[in-house]
Amino acid sequence: MTRKLLLTGAAGKIGSFFHNAYADTYEFLLTDIVEPADAKGAPFAKANLSDMDAIRPLFDGVDTVVHLGANPNMDAPWESLLPDNVIATYNVFEASHQAGCRRVVYASSINAVLGYPVDRQVHTDMPVYPINLYGATKCWGEALARYYSHTHGLSSLCLRFGAVQYRDSEMIHWEHEYVDIIQTLEDNARLIAAAVETGNDVMFGNFHGISNNRYKRLDMTDTNAILDYAPQDDAFEMARDRGAL
Ligand SMILES: NC(=O)c1ccc[n+]([C@@H]2O[C@H](COP(=O)([O-])OP(=O)(O)OC[C@H]3O[C@@H](n4cnc5c(N)ncnc54)[C@H](O)[C@@H]3O)[C@@H](O)[C@H]2O)c1
Repeated sequence: MTRKLLLTGAAGKIGSFFHNAYADTYEFLLTDIVEPADAKGAPFAKANLSDMDAIRPLFDGVDTVVHLGANPNMDAPWESLLPDNVIATYNVFEASHQAGCRRVVYASSINAVLGYPVDRQVHTDMPVYPINLYGATKCWGEALARYYSHTHGLSSLCLRFGAVQYRDSEMIHWEHEYVDIIQTLEDNARLIAAAVETGNDVMFGNFHGISNNRYKRLDMTDTNAILDYAPQDDAFEMARDRGAL
């Protein structure tokens, strides 16, 4: 049976790419404060995630919630982070629990562990190390995921995306310390789908999300082994093809 997915942040960069890539695979319900450019015929609900009463009905009958809606900027101010990342993420987990959803796939970020030196590979068993308020809100989301999985039996998988880029982007930075954290949108969509599809026994985890870069700032062992993630791109190869490295 086709899974029903509630996609928050559906009008954004990652949400619209994921929806386009998997429009034929899943039954989507899209939500955002902004209308998506191309909903591909999928239903769309305009709502602010910080408004629990407005979003709660959207979760009924949903198999998996893919929660991308947030302020994604590293230098976002608290005035935005409080409603868009802190309250919104609580509302999404609580509504998923109340509605009896099977799973939440939560968009965390490399910013949860960005404080480690660039020449030290980060493993998922290392403590969080945010160095900006945005990263701290992502740690809040990871903590909520642990709480809802442990206490309420809601499978909650956190994906720590690196720098998510269009494969053909000319805007890309090519410094080594940036290339090693790139995840192409194609690989990012593969990772989200892998998290949706992984077995029901996987109840919690923080999973790193970068492409198959030949040097990886984030260790990918758990993501590859548990989620069966199979990235296709190597950002160093892309940089070399452009004569940038
Ligand atoms: N782009 C990256 O490189 C990157 C890296 C790590 C993590 N992430 C995370 O991935 C997710 C998606 O990022 P993106 O690059 O697509 O960002 P984006 O800004 O393109 O999309 C985010 C969407 O969320 C919506 N949104 C924001 N606040 C909302 C609210 N209160 N209620 C409802 N909708 C709201 C916005 O309207 C927007 O369409 C975010 O959670 C972000 O923190 C992104």
